[in-house]
Amino acid sequence: MKIEALTIGGIIWGCQLVLAQRFPPSQYFRPIRVCRAHQPLRTNMSNDLLACTRETFKVSNVKDPDADKNIVQISQENGYLIDSYNVTTSDGYILTLFRISGGNKSPARRGKPSVLLLHGWGNSCEAWIALPNDKNLVYMLADAGWDVWLGNFRGSSFSLQHTILNADRNLNYWDFSFHEMGLFDFPMMLDQARRVSENDKVFVIGHSQGATATLVAAAEVPGINEKIHAVYLMAPAVYLGSAYDPFTTATLAIAYTPGEDIIYDILQGRIQLRNPRLLFSSLGIEPQDICQSRTLRCKLCDLPILTPFIFNQNQMNYTNIPRMVSKLFDYATVKSYLHLVQNGRSCSFRYYDRGARKNIRRYGSREPPSYNLNRVRAPVYIFYAEQDDNVTPTDIQRLASALPSETVRAVIRVNDDTFNHEDFSVGRDTNELVYKPLINMMTEFNGRVGTGI
Ligand SMILES: *[C@@H]1O[C@H](CO)[C@@H](O)[C@H](O)[C@H]1NC(C)=O
Ligand SMILES: *[C@@H]1O[C@H](CO)[C@@H](O)[C@H](O)[C@H]1NC(C)=O
Ligand SMILES: *[C@@H]1O[C@H](CO)[C@@H](O)[C@H](O)[C@H]1NC(C)=O
Repeated sequence: MKIEALTIGGIIWGCQLVLAQRFPPSQYFRPIRVCRAHQPLRTNMSNDLLACTRETFKVSNVKDPDADKNIVQISQENGYLIDSYNVTTSDGYILTLFRISGGNKSPARRGKPSVLLLHGWGNSCEAWIALPNDKNLVYMLADAGWDVWLGNFRGSSFSLQHTILNADRNLNYWDFSFHEMGLFDFPMMLDQARRVSENDKVFVIGHSQGATATLVAAAEVPGINEKIHAVYLMAPAVYLGSAYDPFTTATLAIAYTPGEDIIYDILQGRIQLRNPRLLFSSLGIEPQDICQSRTLRCKLCDLPILTPFIFNQNQMNYTNIPRMVSKLFDYATVKSYLHLVQNGRSCSFRYYDRGARKNIRRYGSREPPSYNLNRVRAPVYIFYAEQDDNVTPTDIQRLASALPSETVRAVIRVNDDTFNHEDFSVGRDTNELVYKPLINMMTEFNGRVGTGI
């Protein structure tokens, strides 16, 4: 008995010693919020989930013919020329890129200006086609004469290969955040687009974490700004100190504590959001039996898109829900999320905090260094949403003032009081509110610097 008690006591003492080294007490006593949460503009919108039940009932049994097809099939069936390319990063991740070089409205030809689209956290490039074919950014750009490149960051379902690691078996595979996406994935994808399209410079569009990785690259990778015409950022997840969405709010207290490692281990580094219906199949339940019922479809089958984080009744096209569910969600990487939340808690934009001891070894300081946004040289255009509870208007102002003033060409508030974070991918009117003005701005820019469309 005594020996057992001693052993257990010893183990507990040892664990505490290890934890205290990894997370010195000073880290626990960080304020949970350095910056104050943004106060949202009040609107007369009521985002009740009952509305979903009511509205989906009206569009009962609508089945989207494209919901179960991938981007290659959908593009080909609609007359677009799509090619795929694999590139290997210097740290071994094999990424798949798609290129749409033309379609019926604008046949492929040499000399088109190129644009690289970078998806957000929990998405793959298919999030860019979550809206119907005549209203999504990919085909609108292709029709307008652009050479469209679709990036897939490491950890998304198109980019799960690695020269040595196995994403299913090696937890190490998932040991990355937007930092590595910016440092390693971004330059490889950009160079591939430049080489194949034979364009010296490329336009870049990034949503949320895709924008984060873009700015990491622009701040950290030597010579990268000279390869970019301009970057167009939608809801860039850079500063998150004023976020008030339920997920970030709930996890702020975990940032900088051993809870980070525990969550990472329990979830094995990632969350499989891709098609929630797969979850039902894996439980031995036929998804169609359950998901036919409208009520359950809102509450269970399509639940992830209907969370307060992204559900905007005003911009919801209920008929499009099956397509949204199948296209929007992919693998979500835990460490990337933790990195974002760390920055939310400290109200800064810094490297990943690994605990004081490892920080000193890796960065030479107890606190991780900040990304030096002063080094961004490419022209930046920022679009933000009034009701974005994750990347709030307050944090957008923070970003705009952290960038060199001569690079910030425009900070554009989407002209809809109810617009939120995911509406950039799925909003009913996003084609009119965002994509058309965006394409006009890019075309105008290209008219000044390029060969014209
Ligand atoms: C909100 O108010 C505006 C202006 O009064 C009105 O046009 C709009 O229909 C209202 N929206 C809802 C969802 O009630
Ligand atoms: C890219 O890699 C994937 C997965 O290894 C493979 O299935 C695909 O054929 C490759 N594509 C090209 C264009 O090499
Ligand atoms: C809503 O989504 C459906 C299915 O994708 C589409 O056919 C329809 O055009 C969309 N309506 C609007 C107003 O965008």
